[in-house]
Amino acid sequence: MPSLQRDYLKLLLARYWFAPPVALWRAVELRVLAAEEFPRPILDLGCGDGLIADVLFAGEEPLEVGFDPWWEQLRQGAQSDMYRHVQQALGDAMPYPDDTFATIFSNSVLEHIPDLAPVLREAARVLRPGGHFIATVPSDVFRRLLAGYRERMSVGDLPGAEAYATRVDRRLEHYRYPTPRQWTEMLAQAGIRLVTTRYYIPATVAALWDEGNATYGISEDSKPFYRWLASPRLKKLGYQNWLRRQVVRVLSREWRHLYEMNVPEGGVGAGLLVVGEKA
Ligand SMILES: C[S@@+](CC[C@H](N)C(=O)[O-])C[C@H]1O[C@@H](n2cnc3c(N)ncnc32)[C@H](O)[C@@H]1O
Repeated sequence: MPSLQRDYLKLLLARYWFAPPVALWRAVELRVLAAEEFPRPILDLGCGDGLIADVLFAGEEPLEVGFDPWWEQLRQGAQSDMYRHVQQALGDAMPYPDDTFATIFSNSVLEHIPDLAPVLREAARVLRPGGHFIATVPSDVFRRLLAGYRERMSVGDLPGAEAYATRVDRRLEHYRYPTPRQWTEMLAQAGIRLVTTRYYIPATVAALWDEGNATYGISEDSKPFYRWLASPRLKKLGYQNWLRRQVVRVLSREWRHLYEMNVPEGGVGAGLLVVGEKA
């Protein structure tokens, strides 16, 4: 089982030192996921390069299966030893028999898929009865917790705020932000009963994440200095290991309180954990 004791902030800053805000978001995500149960066999839907599974399930037996349509990412996933099998496939045509998996895990994937209904139907088909469906997605309030959105709204500039959020959607290739109620309906139509949803990434963390994307050269209208420093092209100059160690040392201390911050009871956050069970 994933461990609640693990320091996901340090682990992910070490992996994503070139994009620290990504490390922060994903560290909070893993802290939230680590409280869930993942019965075997597990299918990682949209596994990418396997890095997230590698950190979340560190020290465990490899996950049974990971799949993703993106060949280059998948190739790295295959090298990570984190999966028994990796396969190139799309979520709406999963190459597995009915009732195969006890858990489907999908981290930061479903928001990138234009037509979600067939993917959820496929998930229900390949899950065993009673099997767990565990997904993380940006929440229905993601856009309005962005620092750039809030700044514009604070001066009454709704069109500017919406245009800003639309640019973020486009950069991140996000197609939708369902509410918990909409998740209940979408999953029910596929044959999965919603067990719980939980918000994470409180407003303070979401705002810092958004500002950090500009500071570290991740978003469009951002300062490119750090991106340039962290560029793979400059690896040969030999300073990047030092830079990486500094990022881990400094930010794992400075961002600790953000990493540990929970969404207040009854409040909302920019991320949403969705947990379902095959009916
Ligand atoms: C933000 S990445 C997340 C990867 C990995 N789950 C992680 O947490 O690092 C989104 C992934 O969704 C995958 N994806 C996009 N469309 C998909 C689809 N129709 N079916 C399955 N995966 C898809 C992409 O190829 C990409 O690897």
